[in-house]
Formats: sequence, C-alpha cells, structure tokens
Amino acid sequence: MKLLITGGTGYIGSHTVVELLSLGHDVVIVDNLVNSSELVLSRIEKITGKMPQFVKADICDRDALNDIFSTYKPEAVVHFAGLKAVGESNDIPLSYYHNNVTGSVVLFEVMAAHNVKNLVFSSSATVYGENNVSPLDETMATSATNPYGRTKLMIEEILFDLAKSDSDWSIINLRYFNPIGAHQSGLIGEDPNDIPNNLLPYVSQVAIGRLAQLQVFGDDYNTPDGTGVRDYIHVVDLALGHIKALETLATLSGCQAINLGTGNGTSVLQIVDGFSHISGTKVPFKIVPRRAGDIATVYANAALAKDVLGWQAERNLTEMLEDTWRWQSTNPQGYTE
Ligand code: NAD
Ligand code: WQD
Repeated sequence: MKLLITGGTGYIGSHTVVELLSLGHDVVIVDNLVNSSELVLSRIEKITGKMPQFVKADICDRDALNDIFSTYKPEAVVHFAGLKAVGESNDIPLSYYHNNVTGSVVLFEVMAAHNVKNLVFSSSATVYGENNVSPLDETMATSATNPYGRTKLMIEEILFDLAKSDSDWSIINLRYFNPIGAHQSGLIGEDPNDIPNNLLPYVSQVAIGRLAQLQVFGDDYNTPDGTGVRDYIHVVDLALGHIKALETLATLSGCQAINLGTGNGTSVLQIVDGFSHISGTKVPFKIVPRRAGDIATVYANAALAKDVLGWQAERNLTEMLEDTWRWQSTNPQGYTE
C-alpha cells in the first residue's frame, strides 16, 4: 500500500515507518521537524535497508499537502503530526489549536479533495478525562482537562462527524496509553527536544547522567505504593497496532475509536526500580507534591483492539525498559551526528 505518514520522523511515527517498510509498504513522510530530527531517516534506512521518501512541510500548508497528494498518490494516511506537551499546551493554547486542530482540518480537506478517505489518527487515552475509573473502555464518556487533550478530543469529534457525512470514509482513532521503549536495534527511540515531561525519558536521562534526579509526583495516591499507575506500552507493539488498523480500514466503514494499551498498570516506583535494575545505575529520586492534573490510575481495557484489529500487546515491561536503556545508552545525547 502507498501511505502518507504525517509526523513520521517523530517517536511513534518512526517506529511505525520501520514496520511498514519492513512489510513492503511504500511510505512518504511529511514532517516539519518541529520535534524531530532528519537523522531519523538514515537510521530507518539502516534498520530496514530502505530510505523512506520525505517531504519537510507543515500540515497547515495546504499547497504543500496538495503537491504531496498529487505527486505520491497515497491510498491512506496515518496522522501522527501534532504537538503533544500537556504543560506547554496550557501556556500556548492557540499554537496547539492551530497546529493540531487547524492542521488536521487542512489535512482532511486535502484528503477529501484527492478522494483519499482512509485514515488512522493518533488519539490518546487523555480523551477519557478524569471522571472514568480504569480499566477504560471505548464506551466511556470522553472529556478533556487541558488544551492538548481538547485538541485530541476535537479532532476525534471532527472525524466522527466527517464519517457520518460521507460513508466513503474509513477512520480509526487509536487511543494510545503510555508509549515507551525503543526499536530493539537501539537506532531509533524517543528524543525530546527539551527537559522531558514524560516519565521514561526523564528516568533514562537521569540514569545516563544528563539530569540529576527524578521528581516523583506524589506518593499519596490510592494505589498499592502511593505513586501514579499507568498502562505503559512498547512503542513497537503500538507501531504494529497501526499496521493492523490500516489492514482493518479495508473492511470498516465509518469512524471507530480503539484503545491501544496492554491492560496492565505499573507504578512510578516500579518503573524506577525496574530501570535501576536494568541499567545497573541506581536512579536517584525525590518525592515531591502531586503534579496538577494527574490522576491516580490509568489503564486500558484492551479487548476491542483484540476483537476488531486482531491485535494485542506482546512485549513485557522488562523488554520496554531494556529497549529504552539500549537506545539511551548508545545515544546519550539523542540524535546527533
Ligand atoms: P513526536 O513529537 O515525537 O512526533 C510528532 C511529529 O509531528 C514530530 O516529528 C513533529 O516534528 C511533527 N509535527 C508536529 N507538528 C507538525 C506540523 N504542523 N506539521 C508537520 N509535522 C508536525 O510525538 P509522538 O510521541 O511520536 O506522538 C505522535 C502522535 O501521537 C502525536 O499526535 C501525539 O499527540 C500522539 N500521542 C502521543 C503519546 C505519547 O505519549 N508519546 C500518547 C498519546 C498520543
Ligand atoms: C506518568 C506517571 C506522573 C514525570 C501523558 C499525557 C497523556 C499522554 C501520555 C499524549 C504519572 C509520573 C512523570 C516525572 C513523575 N500523551 N511522573 N515524574 O501523565 O500519564 O500522560 O503522556 O497523549 O496525554 O498526559 O504520562 O509520563 O507524564 O507520567 O513522577 O518527572 O509518572 O505523575 O504518574 P501521563 P507521564
């Protein structure tokens, strides 16, 4: 299949491109590199023996997207491109609404104009808001607690409306839980621009010595050890979920939301202990007050993905932490020459 991958040089996009190329799909990436490096492309080539086609452009740029659709004639789109930092989205909400929502609407308009109506969209477990009790399933009410989350929810709602208006569309909104890990080769992984917001990149940068100490945000939650519990999922499992979603589009009409999680919860302290063991470096940490907006426990009901996509996560927490550490220890400064 010929596929357009927006945000394909990013963390999850690059792992998905590797799996797609390995299966013989034809891939063109569009990314403006606002949160990724062009070096990813040569790493993907090293892993797969194939250099993906790449266009540096912004998804808000309608002319650039029209050119891409005319030139490459993709049959389906996997839409990863977006800004994703929750805290930053509170500070610069308009940038998030413009980049994520306007950019997505421009992309969907250009898709429609070129009669490309197969789409897999990167949504997030954040759309379950703070009022549902885990395990979270797709029938639960959605809501958002910050501008980033609201962009995901708005895009999902736009896509439900779009599919209702025109039955030619086949759309899957994949709701990711907490992606971690890296490709087993250690050649691609997560490389945040600034100080990481998410737990795993923070822990691994402490272990490699780039950061002094982890702050554990609260140990007074109603969880087994008092720290926050999340559903961590290996990024390669997540990438494989996209392949299954793309295959499923052929038999699906309309728009469907599907969780990609493992169904298991792991606490912050379990992550810290596991990472210390695997890296052979004791990760120093300090308990600090809760982070605003965090909730105690988030994990998926992963049954729908199994039923509809025939997909389930295969990689365990040890593999997730080992692969994260292989990436971080062989690329201590991330993507550099
Ligand atoms: P990432 O930042 O590594 O990848 C996103 C890519 O999109 C980057 O390469 C960035 O340069 C590109 N991009 C951003 N705005 C763009 C624009 N206007 N035009 C073109 N390219 C643009 O993030 P990721 O972790 O790979 O996440 C991918 C998607 O999955 C995002 O939409 C994110 O919101 C969603 N998501 C991520 C997580 C997570 O924890 N990583 C969880 C749930 C959902
Ligand atoms: C995990 C746990 C923190 C950092 C976020 C987004 C969500 C989705 C995934 C995109 C929590 C604790 C963290 C640190 C800590 N992204 N923590 N010290 O908050 O579950 O989800 O990323 O869609 O929308 O909100 O992930 O990795 O930030 O936190 O103690 O320095 O680690 O409190 O319990 P989160 P996270």
